[in-house]
Amino acid sequence: MGRFRTEKDSDYYKVVDDAINAYTWAAIVKLQERGVVGEVLGPVGQGKEAKIILARRGDAYAVLKVFYPVPVRFVKSRYGYILGDPRFRGLKISDQLHLVETWCRKEFGNLARAHAAGVRAPKPYGFYRNVLAMEFIGVGKTPAPQLVEVGLDGLDDPDHVLSEVLKSLERTYVVAGLVHGDLSPFNILYDGRDPWIIDWGSAVRRGHPKELEYLRRDVERVVEFFGGPAPPEELFKRLVERGAWRGPLDFDGEGWLLIGGRRLLD
Ligand SMILES: Nc1ncnc2c1ncn2[C@@H]1O[C@H](COP(=O)(O)OP(=O)(O)O)[C@@H](O)[C@H]1O
Ligand SMILES: [Mg+2]
Repeated sequence: MGRFRTEKDSDYYKVVDDAINAYTWAAIVKLQERGVVGEVLGPVGQGKEAKIILARRGDAYAVLKVFYPVPVRFVKSRYGYILGDPRFRGLKISDQLHLVETWCRKEFGNLARAHAAGVRAPKPYGFYRNVLAMEFIGVGKTPAPQLVEVGLDGLDDPDHVLSEVLKSLERTYVVAGLVHGDLSPFNILYDGRDPWIIDWGSAVRRGHPKELEYLRRDVERVVEFFGGPAPPEELFKRLVERGAWRGPLDFDGEGWLLIGGRRLLD
């Protein structure tokens, strides 16, 4: 994995990227010491409140999502998702750093749940403080573009991509018991064949007071991008019905969830 960089190297990374301050750097070193990632290679993505950095992981790559310990707008935009989430009941958020770390832990937990449910989401590798390590989605060192950059016309097989998004959407809700909450073509990456759903910090567990509002919005954005496969309200209703199923879960050979022997779109 090459030598681990030490605190002294933080000057080097200040040059590479100001976002990696000493506090963040110490968290990255911790992840290296734990063997979660190896050498840090540099930024490959930029989000609203996070920076995405490519790192080595054995013979392959991983990304580090670095959440900035940030201004009040972060607190405001995130607070609603954490309040009302049963996992964060009783949590007292005393300072912004604490909130950013909570957010990072929440995204890790959501990713782990989604990934275990067979959702097309990056595999989470670990996290420490404000840094989350996960599977790199891309080819070689080039990150996969967002669906919004590719556009519907840029997809090799739009029907296939839509099917994969729908399978993941349903698995998220019915199998993982989550609602993504910020699903849109900005948070779906396209690797040239398949879609990958990223950015799970906003996801809520079922039972959250805004569960249905977020689910409806997620469905609407998917239908809006693909122009189908059904009116959003109908797809939403089916998902909610299927989510109420309490029997055993079954899947067919193509990975569709079967409920009473039927697919979402039968
Ligand atoms: N696992 C990943 N593999 C490759 N690129 C990624 C990955 N996660 C994020 N990115 C890139 O970084 C950008 C921001 O990530 P995202 O999780 O959406 O952050 P934000 O919460 O700030 O929107 C994405 O649009 C994408 O281009
Ligand atoms: Mg995003």
